[in-house]
Amino acid sequence: MKSRMPYPGLRPFTRDENHIYFGCDDQVGDLLEKLNDHRFIAVVGPSGCGKSSLVKAGLIPGISLGFLDQRIESWRIAVMRPGTQPMKNLCDALCHPDVFNSDEGHNIHKRPLMLATLMRGPSCLKTVCQENKMPEKTALLVVVDQFEEIFRFRREFSIDQAEAFVNMMIHSVRQDDIPIYVIFTMRSDFLGDCALFLDLPQIMNDSQYLTPRLNREQLQSAIEGPASFFGAEVCPKLVNVLLNDMGHDMDQLPVLQHALMRMWVIATDSGLDTLNLDLYEKIGTLRHALSNHADSVYNHLEAHHQKIAEILFKALCQVSSNRQDTRRPVSIADVASIAQVHARDVIDVVNQFRAKD
Ligand SMILES: Nc1ncnc2c1ncn2[C@@H]1O[C@H](COP(=O)(O)OP(=O)(O)OP(=O)(O)O)[C@@H](O)[C@H]1O
Ligand SMILES: [Mg+2]
Repeated sequence: MKSRMPYPGLRPFTRDENHIYFGCDDQVGDLLEKLNDHRFIAVVGPSGCGKSSLVKAGLIPGISLGFLDQRIESWRIAVMRPGTQPMKNLCDALCHPDVFNSDEGHNIHKRPLMLATLMRGPSCLKTVCQENKMPEKTALLVVVDQFEEIFRFRREFSIDQAEAFVNMMIHSVRQDDIPIYVIFTMRSDFLGDCALFLDLPQIMNDSQYLTPRLNREQLQSAIEGPASFFGAEVCPKLVNVLLNDMGHDMDQLPVLQHALMRMWVIATDSGLDTLNLDLYEKIGTLRHALSNHADSVYNHLEAHHQKIAEILFKALCQVSSNRQDTRRPVSIADVASIAQVHARDVIDVVNQFRAKD
């Protein structure tokens, strides 16, 4: 279903949001070319520069439309994150109705059997394709979003399982019996960690894409395009101010998105079809849009929810001596355990920050 919001805010664009994804046609063209040459690509770049969005809302729709290899008539596209159980997450992505639809017929054994097959060795992704009778002229694409999570998994859970997962991806790309394509998205500050895995540096060297910053014209189209899709507009003065306030700072893309989303919510609530400078002032400009909104949500929380919010944000921020502070994934269960509350309370707090108003 097509999203009815032109701006996703802080989250990445999804596969269904190609209609509101603007400014990256050149990047998508470059990625298609590299992926076609190598059947693998690692999309790298700094935190928040737009890697996941580029793959999900730009590249995947392009591949589905047949722009990668015209000999392939149909694609099975499995999108996953390594998280704390990479092999199981891969299995779940493969079981999706659009991939191998393994829950079809309510066969409760299919999923565990597939996981057991995957665990058998590096060639077993190919085996899964064969066992699921992937038709001729059909290819499998595995997208491993936030690939950097594998390093944390390797450090905190299991070196063997991390290696098994990485080896399977490499082997799948290198074999020629079944067309399997693999895409990683990864923060560039983890590039050095790739050497922890024996064969990973080579495949990363063969086909890597450093995500470029959007130039002024591309940013302008990313600001104006989504509003115009919904029959609305962003007034030229505001476009200019936004572009100037963005400057050259790549960290600002999520903030720009958040500001546009906040302005859109206020404009539609007030029956306006133009985003203008008044709205921009109202949300606190790029400089304060995020903190104003977070403060306002925080101030409306009950006291015990405020305490949970503090613990949640501390857990989400990874402070490091040699790298900049970055976001890190954390489970609801972990936050609940630190805060000594029920998971339901943590979800309540998260939902308040996720709400559009
Ligand atoms: N072409 C675009 N136009 C407008 N906004 C964009 C574009 N691409 C990404 N964004 C916005 O930028 C922010 C970061 O995007 P995304 O999550 O895709 O980046 P990332 O590089 O994958 O981040 P991370 O390093 O956290 O994985 C999000 O708010 C997203 O909506
Ligand atoms: Mg990402």
